[in-house]
Amino acid sequence: SPSDPDLVARARAAKEKLGDKVFVLGHHYQRDEVIQFADVTGDSFKLARDAAARPQAEYIVFCGVHFMAESADILTSDDQKVVLPDLAAGCSMADMATAEQVAECWDVLTEAGIAEQVVPVSYMNSSADIKAFTGKHGGTICTSSNAKRALEWAFEQGEKVLFLPDQHLGRNTAVRDMGMSLEDCVVYNPHRPNGGLTAEELRAAKMILWRGHCSVHGRFSLDSVNDVRERIPGVNVLVHPECKHEVVAAADYVGSTEYIIKALEAAPAGSKWAIGTELNLVRRLANRFAPEGKEIVFLDKTVCFCSTMNRIDLPHLVWALESLAEGNLVNRIQVDKETEAFAKLALERMLALP
Ligand code: 13P
Ligand code: SF4
Repeated sequence: SPSDPDLVARARAAKEKLGDKVFVLGHHYQRDEVIQFADVTGDSFKLARDAAARPQAEYIVFCGVHFMAESADILTSDDQKVVLPDLAAGCSMADMATAEQVAECWDVLTEAGIAEQVVPVSYMNSSADIKAFTGKHGGTICTSSNAKRALEWAFEQGEKVLFLPDQHLGRNTAVRDMGMSLEDCVVYNPHRPNGGLTAEELRAAKMILWRGHCSVHGRFSLDSVNDVRERIPGVNVLVHPECKHEVVAAADYVGSTEYIIKALEAAPAGSKWAIGTELNLVRRLANRFAPEGKEIVFLDKTVCFCSTMNRIDLPHLVWALESLAEGNLVNRIQVDKETEAFAKLALERMLALP
């Protein structure tokens, strides 16, 4: 159970024994029972930067999902070992773009005669293979906190962007932040021949959006926004940009998990907020800010936790820390050399964005 005192004591003891040899990173969507042991918490961007800037911790225990641990491995030195406490902690969105599908897409763009004008921009929520594809073709990675700057950069390099794999972040950034219209965007469906698009449609588009989405954020609807506004007069609606365009368009504020936290820290006492992002984070923020008189509710009660983020629980963390303390390297995430080289290129382009 979350408060199992025995497990808490064991995690503490193993961490103490490891000392400076271990560094624990925790994504904001992690459970409270896990987040209490994180040396640093953050959104995807902050955690990638912090992993890269880590002094010589031999082990980086990543409490988050697989693509984050891969990115940490790519950005850390070869003798640092990245550990994911449960190897089944994946991300359904990242799984929606495979290397084979993306290579096929590039062939379709080549056939249509536009590949040379296209710059790939891949969301952090993608496998190392997709990041390597992105690096190889002159593109960059982005996260929800720098997607606008990444698109600005990409449109300085070329005329079109292939945005992988989250269609919603791609569309929301293009329309909300870059002044494009919905008609500038087309959706490439990897399960249809030629992505379900004609060569003319591809040539006319500025943003080619991969047909991927987050199974958690995709469930917030325009109805949830309208309902909460009716229920709580004066409520501020704050959502993550992985939500559908109609939800983002109806919200008052949009931003990454780190942005959401900062916005609530700055909010005045007595203000009311409905938050559209993962439930662990929303609950933690509701509890944290209630004593300051800030009312924080979950945007839609029918939406549940991110099931893969939740796979990292206290028993898995204890097992990983105790194994490392006993000298057993478990659940190491290691990207192969060639993939790493190209993926690193793309990640470093992101870290160098103004
Ligand atoms: P951020 O923490 O970068 O906002 O990303 C949210 C997310 O869904 C990560 O999987
Ligand atoms: Fe992936 Fe969505 Fe879970 Fe984030 S919240 S890890 S995008 S499934």
